[in-house]
Amino acid sequence: MTGNNRGTSLEVLLQEDRRFPPPDAFRRSAWAKDENIYERAARDPKGFWENWAKELDWFQPWKKVLDWKPPHAKWFIDGKINACVNCVDRHVFSNTGHRARRNKAAIIWEGEPGDTRTLTYWDLYREVNRFANVLKKLGVKKDDRVAIYLPMVPELMIACLSCARIGAIHSVVFGGFSAEALRDRINDAQAKLLITADFGWRRGQQIQLKKAADEALENTPSIENAVVVKRGGFQDTAPQFQWKAERDHWWHELMEQAGAYAEPEQNDAEDMLFILYTSGTTGKPKGIVHTTGGYLTGVYATTKWVFDLKDEDVYWCTADIGWITGHSYVIYGPLANGAAVFIYEGAPDWPAKDRLWRLIEKYGITIFYTAPTAIRAFMKWGREWIEKSNLSSLRLLGSVGEPINPEAWMWYQENIGKGKCPVVDTWWQTETGSIMITPLPGITVTKPGSATRAFPGIEAEVLDEKGGRIEAGGGCVAITKPWPSMLRTIYKDDERYVKTYWSKWNKSIYFPGDGVKRDEEGYFWFTGRVDDVIKLSGHRIGAAEVESALVDYPAVAEAAVVGKTHEIKGQAIVAFVTLKEGKKGSPELVNELKAHVVKKIGAIARPEEILFSADLPKTRSGKIMRRLLRDIAEGKALGDTTTLADPAVVEHLKAQYEEVEG
Ligand code: PRX
Repeated sequence: MTGNNRGTSLEVLLQEDRRFPPPDAFRRSAWAKDENIYERAARDPKGFWENWAKELDWFQPWKKVLDWKPPHAKWFIDGKINACVNCVDRHVFSNTGHRARRNKAAIIWEGEPGDTRTLTYWDLYREVNRFANVLKKLGVKKDDRVAIYLPMVPELMIACLSCARIGAIHSVVFGGFSAEALRDRINDAQAKLLITADFGWRRGQQIQLKKAADEALENTPSIENAVVVKRGGFQDTAPQFQWKAERDHWWHELMEQAGAYAEPEQNDAEDMLFILYTSGTTGKPKGIVHTTGGYLTGVYATTKWVFDLKDEDVYWCTADIGWITGHSYVIYGPLANGAAVFIYEGAPDWPAKDRLWRLIEKYGITIFYTAPTAIRAFMKWGREWIEKSNLSSLRLLGSVGEPINPEAWMWYQENIGKGKCPVVDTWWQTETGSIMITPLPGITVTKPGSATRAFPGIEAEVLDEKGGRIEAGGGCVAITKPWPSMLRTIYKDDERYVKTYWSKWNKSIYFPGDGVKRDEEGYFWFTGRVDDVIKLSGHRIGAAEVESALVDYPAVAEAAVVGKTHEIKGQAIVAFVTLKEGKKGSPELVNELKAHVVKKIGAIARPEEILFSADLPKTRSGKIMRRLLRDIAEGKALGDTTTLADPAVVEHLKAQYEEVEG
């Protein structure tokens, strides 16, 4: 097995013989129902994508579809476009025939305490224009970076769209990241402005975002102003944050004075739309750069076909906007399609484990897109939480973020979809911008646990280490042709871009870092990462990031971090730590180290287990062999140890680990 986070072994997976063809009624009314679209797109991928781009509104058409100088691509050369206009204005004004949407709900929001808001496309238009003017008044210009650190409230979507309107580049930082992680991301992007909130709600607690932002802003010289959304409203308590009058401004106060119209910037197709930081194999997160025209084309097309999105749908993707899924499938993809997008602020088990099902019933959700981690938690909570709600509005279910085991897939299909909703397991990444490998719900016969095949216009293959093509069997997934929504570079580090993604085989083949098997029918079965990236509850954390956080603690000499299979989360973090001379491990130290990682990165990176060890397994050149540590953490037979400097170290660690695990 190539990857490391598949709960079910591949041999078992590949014996999976259940098949789910699209229900007839679904197929008949689906946007994509003709099998031939795959072949047509493969014959002329540029023409295929060009047709999609024509469904968007452009100020000026492109002169050429693609400029490919491996590994750098430009799409829709010289085209001029604005993402905000495509997500908002064109649904409001009649010139594109979409006038019917002016009074349609664009954003339907429910806060965790139960407060609600609905913004029609017209409301959203008013808000983005006014906030675009606020940005301009605060000195934000085209190409300036704006950091956004907000809970899941409509202002988060308004903030992103307003940046897009004036050609500023947003960098959203997930609200679960710590002050230090926020600071580093602000400094890397040299953001000029921060948009945050007094707090957000999570499991009945106020998450103190402004307080964390205050701490971050102590060391961010590029920041000139901060705009603060007043979430407030419920159980107002004394503020826990500071207020610097020369820097901080309330969102609602600025909006009161803002003008009603801001002319949208005529951005170039290749102008940056956003930067989103994601974890890789080093201690420093990478600023993934997405541009405007190609990205919007990719998310627009995939949202329409993969979710079969129609005007009457109420669409809910549970991802936080702090991650790529939220960027592509909460904001840009659905809004470019004129969808009614539902968003929820809080936890799925608050105040009780039936919250999501109640929301589905209350808002009549028709399309529901979530992560396997969540599905496995629902399974564990039991069916009694579901049975009280009427889920009959649902017509399509999606999964994303990590491999879905067939058991979870089946449970989702039977208990949430009641056997009548197609399930789309969508494989993609922050870097790919949009969905790459997925069923099309009106065409594809699905198999539980398989992401099936590449979206039309995408060329995906399975390659071995040397780049040899594997028709059926295991290897690494590879994307062999450029696609419109691909990342363009790593912010201010193009060398790392080339090295990370385009150097495994040759510089025109993209290396995603995922293990996969292809079955006899050509279906893809993902098995997890082949590098040192850990997928924890679908969130992406680099082993090296957690290691740097651990060695930052004074008593720690060295640390090695690996992912271990976890029943619900997919993977959990296990850390092997060597202490400095004279320091002794203790349960208190374990807790302190966990707290230190939370402070450096955020609660999402808290290690599940920490084991103290006198030594770590290293190669003769001194490289820590995480592969062997993974074997130890998984309780597996040790792999090849011949390259170890001192083979006794792993035997000793294994014995010690087994003792701790009991
Ligand atoms: O390992 C793959 C896994 O998530 C990684 C990308 O993580 P991130 O950039 O955070 O984006 C997550 C949301 C798109 C991939 O390299 N992954 C994502 N979707 C799937 C998946 N693994 C298996 N099946 C999926 N459907």
